[in-house]
Amino acid sequence: MNNTENRLSHSPREKFSGKLGYLMATAGSAVGLGNIWRFPYLVAKYGGGIFILVYFLLIVVFGYALVVTETALGRSTGKSPIGAFGTHSNKRWTKAGAWINAIVPAIIVPYYCAIGGWVVKYLIEYLKGNASLLATDAYFGSFISNALTSELCFFVFALATFLVVIFGVKKGIESGSKIMMPLLILLAVIIAIYSVTRPGAIEGVKYMFIPNFKNFSTMTLVAALGQMFYSMSLAMGILITYGSYLDKDVDIEKSSIQLGAFDTGIALLAGLMIIPAVFAFSGGSAEALNSGPSLMFITIPKVFESMGFANIIGAVFFIMVLFAALTSSISLMETCVATLADQFKWSRIKCCIMVFVFILVVGSASVLGYGPWEFVTIFGMQVLDFFDFLSNSLLMPIAALFTCLFITRIVGLDKIENEVCLSSQFRLKKLYRISIKYIAPVFLAIILISSIASVLGIISM
Ligand code: TRP
Repeated sequence: MNNTENRLSHSPREKFSGKLGYLMATAGSAVGLGNIWRFPYLVAKYGGGIFILVYFLLIVVFGYALVVTETALGRSTGKSPIGAFGTHSNKRWTKAGAWINAIVPAIIVPYYCAIGGWVVKYLIEYLKGNASLLATDAYFGSFISNALTSELCFFVFALATFLVVIFGVKKGIESGSKIMMPLLILLAVIIAIYSVTRPGAIEGVKYMFIPNFKNFSTMTLVAALGQMFYSMSLAMGILITYGSYLDKDVDIEKSSIQLGAFDTGIALLAGLMIIPAVFAFSGGSAEALNSGPSLMFITIPKVFESMGFANIIGAVFFIMVLFAALTSSISLMETCVATLADQFKWSRIKCCIMVFVFILVVGSASVLGYGPWEFVTIFGMQVLDFFDFLSNSLLMPIAALFTCLFITRIVGLDKIENEVCLSSQFRLKKLYRISIKYIAPVFLAIILISSIASVLGIISM
């Protein structure tokens, strides 16, 4: 479902097969572990309703503007980030901005594969009929502290990603995920309804949707912003590349809004599967809510166990999640490969192998950092959390800031607006202008400063 950047080197440039093709590709890159695994644990951890409210406001106020900007920049230049920035300027800071956009996927993909490995493990256990074992509290911890098993699962997922990218058999995965994605949504709706109707679950629904301002902290804002970038695949050049495959008659404004709505819808659905269940099955204790990356893996098996037919439901669910995760990891890896191939003119195979080795090394550290190497922390974070923080809370805001400055200082807002107007009236033009010129840069700067301050221990979040 994801379109790829490696097409870049082919000319003339291929185009999407129309509006639907574009929407499927962007939705495919947007929907992944970010929605199903990451969003629910952040909501649980960073204040429930208030987190969702902040997330929502951020999307409306500048997530939307960034989607429009990246897409229009890609379509007008017909290039991927480094090329698109380079078309307009040769200044050193614009080059740096382009590179930061290009580096982000390389930081995400190793730990994305680590989480993919957890999905593989749970799938295998459900296939083996171990549903009740998975539903026990200690299971996740014991799995992750076993270096051999957890490394093996990570390796399987990373290898699958690598094989698809190197053999270019993406089509098979994509047509598979065209069936899997709608089914995943259907199953998620059923699970969410089941979760929400458990005794005690309503407290979880309230926690999710009634903002409690007491729960607000700087971290709510930092985490919500990072999640917005991550979930919509923003600030890493993906949408610039997709925009470059886009026909001039596709309504950029409308498709950006659709993308945001779709992505947020799926995230909320995943939240409704998981958070009410935390209240129904673990009493909504602070400890459960704060469990972070492991939340989905601890909670969902309990839901399945209580639903009955846990082995079947679990296997079906994790197969679908696996597909959603694979389409994303493939597209992330391919982005890295394409950047290397474009910039250094190395062969595709060489680039694939280099990226794969990089994934194995950095990803392994993330996997071990959750288990046997628990004592290794970087700025007080476990290895996986550190990479997550580095990409989402530091590099992506920096990349987005560069993009805003680049658009207002070098390309000119008019150019972007004209590009959007080729295919629509651009009804939200005023909001767009204010956002890119003022709101986005100021917010981004504030958020960046607070992330850095928190890492250095100047403020506590
Ligand atoms: N948005 C994806 C998700 O929600 C993750 C992701 C981040 C991604 N950047 C990407 C996917 C680039 C594909 C390409 O899981």
